Amino acid sequence: MGVVASAPAKIILFGEHFVVYGEPAIVLAIDKRAYAKAELRNDKKLFIRSSNLNIAGIFENGNFKVEEGNPKEAKMRLEPLKCAAEKVLEISGEKVGLNIEVSSTVPVAAGLGSSAAVASAVAASVGALLNVKMTKEDVFRIAFEAEKIMHGTPSGVDPAISTFGGTLLFQMDTGFKPLDVKVDIPLVIGNTGVERLTRVQVSKVRSVRDKHPQIFEAILRTAREIVLRAIEALIEGDLETLGELMNFNHALLYGLSVSDESLEWLINSARKAGALGAKLTGAGGGGCMIALTDKDKLEKVLEAVQRSGGNAFIARKTDEGVRVEPS
Ligand code: MEV
Repeated sequence: MGVVASAPAKIILFGEHFVVYGEPAIVLAIDKRAYAKAELRNDKKLFIRSSNLNIAGIFENGNFKVEEGNPKEAKMRLEPLKCAAEKVLEISGEKVGLNIEVSSTVPVAAGLGSSAAVASAVAASVGALLNVKMTKEDVFRIAFEAEKIMHGTPSGVDPAISTFGGTLLFQMDTGFKPLDVKVDIPLVIGNTGVERLTRVQVSKVRSVRDKHPQIFEAILRTAREIVLRAIEALIEGDLETLGELMNFNHALLYGLSVSDESLEWLINSARKAGALGAKLTGAGGGGCMIALTDKDKLEKVLEAVQRSGGNAFIARKTDEGVRVEPS
C-alpha cells in the first residue's frame, strides 16, 4: 500500500533573482499542488515515474536506466527526486527499494516552483511510508538539496514556500518569517507556455552583475526598498501601492534581461485591462507573469491575458504547505 503526500506551488510577489544575492523576497503558496506516492518494492531498486511528464526510470547502484521518455530529460528531472528519496532512506537506516509516482497540477519550468513542490512531496511521502519522524524543517532541507541538483545555486525560496505554505518573507541568511497578511490578494497568473531553465536565467543575471557591479549594487538596493515598502502595503492592505511596487519590481527584472516578448505581451495586456500592477514571477525568460487586480476586474484581466495567448487562471493563496494525504 502506498503513501501520498502533496506540496503547493508558489508565486514570488517580490524579489526573485535579487534573493539569490541575499536580498529579501515575498512569496506565497497557491492552490495548485504536486503529489508523490511512495510504495515499497520487493527489490532494492528505486523506480521513479512522473505521470504528467511521461518520464520514468530506475536507479540502481549509481546507474540510471530510462524506462519512459527522453533519457536526458528523464535523468535531469528524476535525479533530484532520487536524491530526496535517498536522503530520507539514509535517515531511516532502511535499505529498501521504492516505487515513486509523481503527478502535478503545476506547470513545469514556468516559475511556479514545480520542481521544489515535487521534491517536498517526495520527501514527505517516503518519510511517511517508512515511519520516519521528520519535521517540516527536515523536509525543507531535503527539498533544498534536490533543488541544488536541479538549479545550481538556488536561494532556497522555492523549497521553503512549498514546504511551509502561507505567505513568507524569505532571506537567505536570516531564513523565513511568515507574514500575517489579512487582505485578499486577487491575482491572475498567466503562463506564456515558453519553458525555460531557472539556472540559465540565474546565470544571465550573474553576467550583468559581473559586467556592471556598481549598477547592479544600486539595483539590489532598490529591490530591497521595494520589498520593505511592500511588507507595509501588504499589512495595511494597500493594493494600489502593491501594484505600483510590482511594476517597479518588473522594471528592474526587465533591465536585467530576464523578461522576454511573451511575458511583456501578457503583462501589457493585463495592465491595459486595468490590473493594479503586473510582473514576471520566478526566473523569467518565459514562464509565468502575475497581475494584481481589484476583485471586480479579475474576470476582465483574466480574459485579456487569455486573449493575448496566455494560459491564465485566478490564483488563490493557500496556508497549507507539504502534507501527507489521508489514505
Ligand atoms: C526561482 O523561482 C527564483 C529565483 O530567484 C531563483 C532562486 O531564488 O533560487 C530566480
